[in-house]
Amino acid sequence: MLKTSHLLLLFCLVGAGSALYKQWIPDTNYENKTNWDKDAVPCGSDTVQFPAQRKVSVFVETTHAVREMRLPLDGEFILNSGAGFFVVSGEEPGCGAGVTTKFKDSEGLQWFNPALWQAAATLDDLQHGNVLFSVHEESVPCEYDDVVFKARSSFRVDTSSSQSSIPVKSVSVLGKMFETGSEFSQYLSTRSGRLQFHGSSAVTVGKPACGDPSGCDCGNSVNHKRICGTVTCDSLTCKTPLSPVGHCCKVCGAIVTIKFSADFNLQTYRQRIHHLFLMLPKYKSIQLGMSKVAKPQRLMGIVPFGTTPEIQVVILDGEKGTQAENLAWDIVKDARSHGSNLGITEAEFQASSGGSSDQSGSNAGVIVGAVIGVLILISLVGTLVVLVRKGFVQMPSIDIGDLGRTLDHGYDNPMFDRPNMMPDIPALYGNETNSSISMSQTGVHFVNPVYDDNETDFNA
Ligand SMILES: *[C@@H]1O[C@H](CO)[C@@H](O)[C@H](O)[C@H]1NC(C)=O
Repeated sequence: MLKTSHLLLLFCLVGAGSALYKQWIPDTNYENKTNWDKDAVPCGSDTVQFPAQRKVSVFVETTHAVREMRLPLDGEFILNSGAGFFVVSGEEPGCGAGVTTKFKDSEGLQWFNPALWQAAATLDDLQHGNVLFSVHEESVPCEYDDVVFKARSSFRVDTSSSQSSIPVKSVSVLGKMFETGSEFSQYLSTRSGRLQFHGSSAVTVGKPACGDPSGCDCGNSVNHKRICGTVTCDSLTCKTPLSPVGHCCKVCGAIVTIKFSADFNLQTYRQRIHHLFLMLPKYKSIQLGMSKVAKPQRLMGIVPFGTTPEIQVVILDGEKGTQAENLAWDIVKDARSHGSNLGITEAEFQASSGGSSDQSGSNAGVIVGAVIGVLILISLVGTLVVLVRKGFVQMPSIDIGDLGRTLDHGYDNPMFDRPNMMPDIPALYGNETNSSISMSQTGVHFVNPVYDDNETDFNA
């Protein structure tokens, strides 16, 4: 544990990239009432039933009374220290005559379902529920993310995909963090590993962290179809719904687009926006997702020609909020006044109300504007020439050089300003987990002896 937290601290200090922790939400814990068909943990007079054909790894935190228990063909209990079952005969007080309670099926829960993950910047944030909003593609773990399955928890996840593997930086299971490929593939071949991960693709650990301070592309666009297949989009009422890159649905709200220089640091900027704006009461219900995306470029808005990296800030209003556009303005204003210190060269936004920042909304707009400007200029010059030729106008002596200089407005290039980034604020890492359990303490296999008498590791 000590080693892990030192490592984390180190990563944090060097500000290595913008990796997030992505935590799988569902569990297959005995104590979670959502896992039972009666939406309650079975009580002492109940008959507990695990569907015979379902493979499952169940984490048990404490001691439970049951009347009878029917076990699956293949499965395990992971018993916390002190946990166990005892059989009661007769009625338990406050429990009634007892019913048959079935453990729900967790077979269909897919890795690529964005609703089943939550993201946070640090483990501490994960534990305290300070979760981040992301576009759908990035709700699912990105290549350089740390994947967390809750400590004191078991689970079952379907990792099927069209790719042969699902690369990630690390995976934590039951409080143990796997950071090397060999270690994790070894875990996957254990009984617990096989019960927890199933499906056509293998999760592989050991992808390097994102080494680019301005962020890395998530890498999930290859799985876009599969990810969006699990998403149902809301019907929208806004005037011009927006399509964020990496999202499955159109949204109402605002999108801030940021172009950056070599000095930009995504993690620092995320913290800045959080401290400056998201803490404010008026922005309480805002959902904000910030990431580096590859924005498709189109000439004149039609002809595609490659992609450019940019920072996309998606801002959505929560319940009945109307602040998304105001926040977009605040962010653009902040970027324009402090851009040179932040490594931001350009910032603009589009809102679903039809509003946008005053700079032309898109490259297409800039090009169209420039073309029209040139046409007007040419016709003016043409008219002038005609008038001069016909003698209507006396030609003043014009210094072409002067004219050139006055037309050349030029742009301030903030890249030339000295960078003075906000210092990296080392986030507060709690101990990676306060779990007192580990595989060795709790890996108690409960193999149903009725079905499988080859297995003899029945050491509960
Ligand atoms: C129980 O499971 C649900 C759904 O999978 C999850 O949202 C919830 O956090 C779990 N409860 C606890 C206490 O972990």
